[in-house]
Amino acid sequence: RMAGLAKDNAGYDLAQVLAGSEGTLAVITAVVLRLVPQPEATTTALVGTEDVTDALAVLAAARRAGRLLAVEVMRADGMALAAAHLGAAVPLPDPVALLVEWDGDVDPDRLAAVVGLRRAVLAQDPADARSLWALREAHTEALAAAGPVTKLDVTLPAAATARFLRDVDDLVSDGSGGTAPQAGQAGQAGRAGRAVVFGHLGDGTLHVNLLHAPDGAGEAVLDLVARAGGSIASEHGIGVAKADHLRLVRDAADIALMRRLKAAFDPAGRLNPGVVLPPQAD
Ligand code: LAC
Ligand code: ZN
Repeated sequence: RMAGLAKDNAGYDLAQVLAGSEGTLAVITAVVLRLVPQPEATTTALVGTEDVTDALAVLAAARRAGRLLAVEVMRADGMALAAAHLGAAVPLPDPVALLVEWDGDVDPDRLAAVVGLRRAVLAQDPADARSLWALREAHTEALAAAGPVTKLDVTLPAAATARFLRDVDDLVSDGSGGTAPQAGQAGQAGRAGRAVVFGHLGDGTLHVNLLHAPDGAGEAVLDLVARAGGSIASEHGIGVAKADHLRLVRDAADIALMRRLKAAFDPAGRLNPGVVLPPQAD
């Protein structure tokens, strides 16, 4: 489909079948990309909120204020970890912060309507914006330096997000398992675990990073996600690590059809064996 047509509904969209296939169906040797003009200016702000429900209210207001380029969520412990890693100060003391970026200059009245009575830092120049982004982008590196981490990459329906985060925090901190059936083991060496959560709230992606979590906590979190109607693979895919968990979010008919697609594209089974689809028991 190299013509780059904006619309083309002549039968099945076979190129789109490759999305999420992780190299198991074909080898992509060329792509056509749509170019998006670089913004002439951006408005970047960090807004402090009391919890994720409040953060979702800010997100809704931010959508009304202009064209969003990004809405990233961070929690206080992740910001502290990232700031320490960068040798920087934590800009806001709030439990949950949203890094919001709009295309163009946002009118001050509209910005004020987004922030309301909350604390916020508005980038005054590109260097300010870069340091706010650095805090967000240092999360992964800071976590890697903090110890062994179980990394999960999930999406939740917005309405289920607050409850999910409470359950995850319960699960990792005391090992009682929250409402999840598979947890219950004690934390490593009596150390309280914690979940450092950040992500792209604009599209519902949460990167859940479990530090010093009880054994089985990763699986228990994936169960919570599935029961909340979310996805266990938001943007990083299934790979090998989550192939056995695919059944949490795709039913038997779905998986059987995926196997038939795999056989149609790759009858000899040469492409990325063991990725996405677990080996069959029979
Ligand atoms: C990020 C990677 C982990 O958002 O997806 O930083
Ligand atoms: Zn991400």
